[in-house]
Amino acid sequence: MVSTSVPKPSPTSYEFLFKRDIEFRQETIYFVVVDRFHDGDPANNPGPNPELYDATRQDWTKYWGGDLQGVIDKLDYLQGMGVTALWLTPLFEQVERLAYQKYAAIHGYWTRDFKRINPRYVAAGETTSLFQAQETTFDRLIAEAHRRGMKIILDIVCNHSSPEAGGVKGQLFDDGKLIADFNDDKNHWYHHYGEVSNWDDEWQVQNCELSGLATFNENNASYRNYIKGAIKLWLDRGVDALRVDTVKHMPAWFWQEFIADLLTHRPDVFVFGEWIYNHPSDGKSAAFANSSGMSLLDFGFAMAARRAIGKNEEGGFHLVNELFELDHHYDGANELVTFIDNHDMLRFQSLNSDPLALRLAVVLLMTSRGIPCIYYGTEQELHNDTNVGDGQPYENNDPYNRPMMEKWDTDTPIYRVLAILTQLRRLNPAISLGRHRSMHVTPDVYVFTRSYRQSRCTVALNKSDQPITLENLFVDLPDRRYVCFLTKRRFEVKEGRIARLRIDPKQALVLSHIGPAVRGQTVVRVQLNGMQTQLGETVCVSGNCPELGNWDIQKAPALEYINANTWFGEISFDESAGKPIVYKYVIRRTDEHGVILDQPRRENLVCRRWWLAPEGIVKWRDYWERA
Ligand code: NOJ
Ligand code: CA
Repeated sequence: MVSTSVPKPSPTSYEFLFKRDIEFRQETIYFVVVDRFHDGDPANNPGPNPELYDATRQDWTKYWGGDLQGVIDKLDYLQGMGVTALWLTPLFEQVERLAYQKYAAIHGYWTRDFKRINPRYVAAGETTSLFQAQETTFDRLIAEAHRRGMKIILDIVCNHSSPEAGGVKGQLFDDGKLIADFNDDKNHWYHHYGEVSNWDDEWQVQNCELSGLATFNENNASYRNYIKGAIKLWLDRGVDALRVDTVKHMPAWFWQEFIADLLTHRPDVFVFGEWIYNHPSDGKSAAFANSSGMSLLDFGFAMAARRAIGKNEEGGFHLVNELFELDHHYDGANELVTFIDNHDMLRFQSLNSDPLALRLAVVLLMTSRGIPCIYYGTEQELHNDTNVGDGQPYENNDPYNRPMMEKWDTDTPIYRVLAILTQLRRLNPAISLGRHRSMHVTPDVYVFTRSYRQSRCTVALNKSDQPITLENLFVDLPDRRYVCFLTKRRFEVKEGRIARLRIDPKQALVLSHIGPAVRGQTVVRVQLNGMQTQLGETVCVSGNCPELGNWDIQKAPALEYINANTWFGEISFDESAGKPIVYKYVIRRTDEHGVILDQPRRENLVCRRWWLAPEGIVKWRDYWERA
């Protein structure tokens, strides 16, 4: 008998709130369009309405048979590549009619019942109700993934149910019982304001329809209870994280309440949202990332990488570097989910079919800040260029960006690169937790170093057709010999510099140095935002326990500078693990010899109080209280 392996929180255990916090920064996500991945169970293909299935796989708007057994069958393939988290397109029961005259809901974004699983994804005859804890294919997937140390990310939609399909629109069911209908909306579960016409009008974006999708009325508490209740059922079955659709189409207060409720139910869940084309210079999306309780998919990174490497636009790598220079707009830039393509835009290779360009983009994705997400098939160079118009970075050729996975070759260039870099990301905290510094940037060449404590990772990319040699480049690696992870070429670092750094055409170099890890019974990952520091100033955590220096500021552990808005550090607790403590942040000043000066700047607040977890990793996310 298979059972799901995620322990259920005890709702009465308030300690749980201080104990658990899932760490996603070292994960590598792989995004699967379930219907287009692998058909592991042909018996479920006809589904409730056989007309929506095309066995010939010629009709791109119909189902092609992929299912959760197919995902289970390929878990070893994914594990071999180092994938640690799987984002699956929504698994909810969908409308079983053609919408817009010809489209089946193969993507999962047109839900009719959030409390049931799409019967096309599990074995025929299995229960689809989330209330009935049976051993379905879905439960086996969770158990098999967890057995391999992999996490499952559920894609959820709160903004809408379904568009007009065969005469009905927005019919919504509660485990099989009809509870709302857009065309007969007695209880006001939906907004009825028509389509968004002005995308600059925030009220419209939040209340009007997107492509005719029946849009929920979040002011209705019954709706909110329904959707929260539904997602909790999925969390109870073992889902580890959530990707949230269309977040900009609902008000921030809804998300704040929704996330708080879910975290009370399952405090360790990681959540990231889709604010389409978010960018750090767009104040609204950055404010959302900082105040909603969820991270965001990083469209800013995707567009910069696609324009620089995919389209070879004039600014080249400056476009990517400029994006990273805006990281201080986010409180948690290292937790953004980065990608180079997805199901709503041209695949990277439809922009640029050169496999070496794809490889460079994948290396950039895997070694720069954020949690990388690989779109299924990237490792097999899967792409279909039908209906590629001007081939611009913002273009979408849906459904042709969702082809069926055809090959499972574990020896492709991208599969091999991913197997190396996923491992490196897990081992070297400079990549996942650290600071980004650009060491050399031109349109064609990008050298950057990630650093955290004594760990470093230096990456050099050359996207031109010419070899480039950089003389005496400071890379801030500790002095020693290095072997490049990707090319096996050798380099010597002296006084932090490489005397002659040759980067061959379309080549990527990765040099890594891993310092000692922070260990302790309880390790707190501290993130402080919102303070301004001057050169020579260091942020420390001062408190009433030995690990925090017993209020002696000279002994208070220091954080590290990540960017102008973020300081970060890990503090280990042994003696005080499991005990209540108080602390505040202090800015310590040193002279040019490192001698600590008087008059530190202290936060202006009665101290922060916390109950340390007895063991494990926890996070503090604090804002500097101005003096
Ligand atoms: C964003 C999803 O990624 C996209 O595929 C979907 O069609 C829309 N949201 C509407 O749910
Ligand atoms: Ca199937």
